[in-house]
Amino acid sequence: ALASLRQILDYAAEYGFAVPAFNVSNMEQVQAIMAAAHACDSPVIMQGSAGANRYAGEVFLRHLVLAAVEQYPHIPVVMHRDHAPAPAICAQAIQSGFSSVMMDGSLLEDMKTPASFDYNVEVTRQVVAMAHACGVSVEGEIGCLGALENRPDDEHSRLLTDPDEAVEFVARTGVDALAVAIGTSHGAYKFSKPPTGEVLVISRLKVLQQRLPNLHFVMHGSSSVPGEWLQVINEYGGAIPETYGVPIAEIVEGIRYGVRKVNIDTDLRMASTGAMRRFLAQPEHAAELDARKTYQAARDAMQALCQSRYEAFGSAGHA
Ligand code: G3H
Ligand code: 13P
Ligand code: NA
Ligand code: ZN
Repeated sequence: ALASLRQILDYAAEYGFAVPAFNVSNMEQVQAIMAAAHACDSPVIMQGSAGANRYAGEVFLRHLVLAAVEQYPHIPVVMHRDHAPAPAICAQAIQSGFSSVMMDGSLLEDMKTPASFDYNVEVTRQVVAMAHACGVSVEGEIGCLGALENRPDDEHSRLLTDPDEAVEFVARTGVDALAVAIGTSHGAYKFSKPPTGEVLVISRLKVLQQRLPNLHFVMHGSSSVPGEWLQVINEYGGAIPETYGVPIAEIVEGIRYGVRKVNIDTDLRMASTGAMRRFLAQPEHAAELDARKTYQAARDAMQALCQSRYEAFGSAGHA
């Protein structure tokens, strides 16, 4: 059956590991994530964004996850709504069977304009009341996700999650997990060179954990942007500029300070894009029309990536 996020993260905290939360919008991703989890015995968090809903449709997304649960009944699976912009969207996700929702009240409903702290508390508190009544977990967010590179130092502290605000936010909302801003950003272009502690501020987690020792932290924008996949993509016709993600070692350091959920979308996009480009570029596949073979290459690449994340974050062996 579906598990709630809270159940899995409480367990993760007890054993000191984190669970990767992979974004999904199609069957091959779901199958790759589940096959990898089965191979290394890890619990699973899958999450759907607004973009996933637009791509697959709410019904297909729901049934893909139900298929995963039916095929792998021994693996706990969380189905989480990523970055819901409003309480009504969380309500919709709950009705649709999601076992966890993220109310992202750090931004207004347009998902662009930074929101006030009081607005964020108010919408998140509403969602917690509604979700907990249904046995559904809630992730909140405070601070501003986004690149610190090229910003003056005095802006950094304004963008990062503020420890005093975090304490007050958790007390007033009752969230199960908190997404923090520590210099990560969504997408492939996080850092123009391997990140230092100035732009990827893992040390902020240490401070947050001292203040909130029992809270589960969530790292967004946590793809590592593997250089190997970047190279494969570019070798087979891609044109991705030099870019760096969040090193696995930094995530592992974050796990020591209470990170329990690690959001990954871009890495799966890179693995599947690289694998498909490479497959199609082979001369022996020039006449291949069975697209399943291309999708299979993508699925295998994603499965290997998922398994290495389960192992690195320590969730392997804990299904
Ligand atoms: O939150 C960001 C995720 O990578 C989702 O991306 O909106 O393109 O589905 P998406
Ligand atoms: P990446 O773009 O680093 O994979 O982050 C995904 C994410 O945070 C989804 O909420
Ligand atoms: Na934010
Ligand atoms: Zn995110």
